[in-house]
Amino acid sequence: MASFLVLVQLIVGTFASAASVSTTFSVPNILTPHRELSPPFRVTPRNLGFSVASVSNEDYLHDDSIDSSYTVTPFRPTLCSIQNRTFWFAGPVQIQDAQKRTVALTSSSVAMALNFSHPSWIRELSPRPESSWPIIPLTPAEQFVSATYKKTYQFDTSAHCSLISDTSAVQFWNAWSYNAGTYNCYSPSGSFLAIYTLDPATNKLTVSRPAPVYQKLSIQYPYGSFSTLTVQGKTYLYAWDVYYPPSDDMGGEHDPGGYHRDIHVAVAPTSTIEDKSTWKYYDNRTGTFSSTEPLPTTRRSSAAIIILNDFSTEFANTFLSASIFYSEYHDAYLLVYAPFYPPGIYVRFAPTPLGPWSSRGTKIMDPTQFGYTVVRYALASPIFFQTGGKAGQSLLLTLTGDYKTQAFKLNFT
Ligand SMILES: *[C@@H]1O[C@H](CO)[C@@H](O)[C@H](O)[C@H]1NC(C)=O
Ligand SMILES: *[C@@H]1O[C@H](CO)[C@@H](O)[C@H](O)[C@H]1NC(C)=O
Ligand SMILES: *[C@@H]1O[C@H](CO)[C@@H](O)[C@H](O)[C@H]1NC(C)=O
Repeated sequence: MASFLVLVQLIVGTFASAASVSTTFSVPNILTPHRELSPPFRVTPRNLGFSVASVSNEDYLHDDSIDSSYTVTPFRPTLCSIQNRTFWFAGPVQIQDAQKRTVALTSSSVAMALNFSHPSWIRELSPRPESSWPIIPLTPAEQFVSATYKKTYQFDTSAHCSLISDTSAVQFWNAWSYNAGTYNCYSPSGSFLAIYTLDPATNKLTVSRPAPVYQKLSIQYPYGSFSTLTVQGKTYLYAWDVYYPPSDDMGGEHDPGGYHRDIHVAVAPTSTIEDKSTWKYYDNRTGTFSSTEPLPTTRRSSAAIIILNDFSTEFANTFLSASIFYSEYHDAYLLVYAPFYPPGIYVRFAPTPLGPWSSRGTKIMDPTQFGYTVVRYALASPIFFQTGGKAGQSLLLTLTGDYKTQAFKLNFT
């Protein structure tokens, strides 16, 4: 399919103003009909025990419109359905030819889902062999730093987006800067809010970054970057803590922000999510909200809504990734999560987005059965499989091992 027509064009370029930056581009009219659920704040869970009928391997995410001798590796793709179009937003992506020459490279990327019957079929939009561009625009401050200090910015995201209106969604991204040419010498800038708006009449997608920008890693909780959920006009912004176990002897790869054992939450009125002064921070011990942003200088586990305590060691009791969403099938809010180690996917449930969350988790998938010794990332979503059952009876799991992302369909009984 080398004759794929370039439907996508960067049409407006990047606008910079004091308040925000945005990019707008055309997307192909590929529809993936999707029914958005709007549950009440409080539901009555049907505790079905989470017994799993089957898990099927749906293949690695791939784009058949790109030369099959090329490798395309979007970093940690996440889902976003707006107006019956389903996007995969991902971090840096590189397309290499058979000789390992780079034919496209972007610091952040977007692809589209082609068909809900084939979860791994994607169409890359921003990285193409013909042309490529990043979807996350640099702020004027980043442009200045980039030009002055010869730094490269990259962006990644760890959670699926949350729809905030018929035509728009929010997602939190992490920014990293690198000294030119030295990719092991990076510094995390923090997490920031991106807003996507799709005009369904013209098929134009706008990505904007409202000011103010960063939640500084290790200094603030990165609200929204663990998971984001909108229910009845409020958007729940979940964050992990920055917990350093006393005996950090595992060395190797972990998030520079520390390990994640506790989940905290802030709540924003959906209509004013861009205005951080309207966010409120939840303290689980007292069950109250405060306008004062708590800072994670010491572990405040009593304020957390979820503490990972499924395992016998502190190290195992740290989150790698998680998804929080409403399951119509279970009539419950679900937390589907992967601990840092051992590889495994677990689920807990709650009657409200704040909890109380069931514990311990129920294991619903063992990635080692599919050849994984390490899962670097795992996310769950109910949006692909809404036909032939209620949303949530089947989940799409995406597991990232070494760069490549594989899709699985999990059916509950
Ligand atoms: C999405 O598709 C469904 C089924 O085709 C349709 O009923 C619904 O109106 C569509 N929604 C939007 C926002 O276009
Ligand atoms: C999606 O895939 C299914 C099964 O392969 C096929 O029957 C259907 O026509 C496809 N839908 C679209 C919109 O291409
Ligand atoms: C949060 O508060 C609820 C209600 O008091 C309680 O049942 C639950 O155990 C608390 N969660 C954590 C993680 O402490």
